[in-house]
Amino acid sequence: MPGTTTPAGFLRLAEDIAREAGDMLLAKRPSMSTRSADIETKSSPTDVVTVLDRASEQLIRERILAVRPGDRILGEEEGDRPGETDVRWVVDPIDGTVNFLYGLPDWAVSIAVEVRGRVVAGVVNVAPRGEVFTAALDEGAWLGGERLRCNPAPPLGQALVATGFAYGAARRAVQAEVLTGVLPRVRDIRRGGSCAVDLCSVALGRVDAYYERGVNYWDHAAGGLVAAEAGARVGGLHGGPCGGEMALCAPPGLFEELHDLLAALDPARDS
Ligand code: IPD
Ligand code: CA
Ligand code: CA
Repeated sequence: MPGTTTPAGFLRLAEDIAREAGDMLLAKRPSMSTRSADIETKSSPTDVVTVLDRASEQLIRERILAVRPGDRILGEEEGDRPGETDVRWVVDPIDGTVNFLYGLPDWAVSIAVEVRGRVVAGVVNVAPRGEVFTAALDEGAWLGGERLRCNPAPPLGQALVATGFAYGAARRAVQAEVLTGVLPRVRDIRRGGSCAVDLCSVALGRVDAYYERGVNYWDHAAGGLVAAEAGARVGGLHGGPCGGEMALCAPPGLFEELHDLLAALDPARDS
């Protein structure tokens, strides 16, 4: 496929596939009466997977491999597929499955493309809102024709901060304790239910910042590029990378303030 080896070329393909998966999910999403069917649990009773999570990942894998049969794919539901190229696709077929089940609008198809270990393209298709966030490395982040810039950093006390909670009860208990240290020091907290959407919300300025401990790579790979290309700083604690230890995203200035607050609250004491 011509152009597929540039970030923009990868992005075009990723966007086409994420749009097709989002359309399929919109057409087949459960109604109030059918939502308890076809649900299984994974790591805990609250960690659900549906037939449509798997169908979405299946569709995405088929479309990628039809065009780029040698690439690696890491997907939440089916794991790692080996390949021969230096390209890896990182897929969350539905980020925000609980929202999907309950008919809430914050869920998304998230696809990132890595070349030699670096994310060069990312798309987060928030299908129920009709919002497709895209980013290519060094080429900016976009929502449709609108180039995204995160908010200028407010003081921590005026920051609207999104966060999320892991599925395991023990980790959640510590996350709740950390939250009691954060909530009195910020404008307010939002718990949207999708890490990918939260990161895009920072990019768009719908929230000022986002943090969460316990995320997986497929949760933040695409949304992290969208936020970074919109000017946000994306990382972890103590200079570490954004990841399971901590995903932290905020404009420079606010990032450091929120970082220091979180570090003092010791979120890692759950492990
Ligand atoms: C979850 C969502 C949620 C976050 C969890 C993730 P899933 O992904 O991103 O917002 O708090 O940490 O696991 O299970 O809906 O794909
Ligand atoms: Ca996810
Ligand atoms: Ca998922």
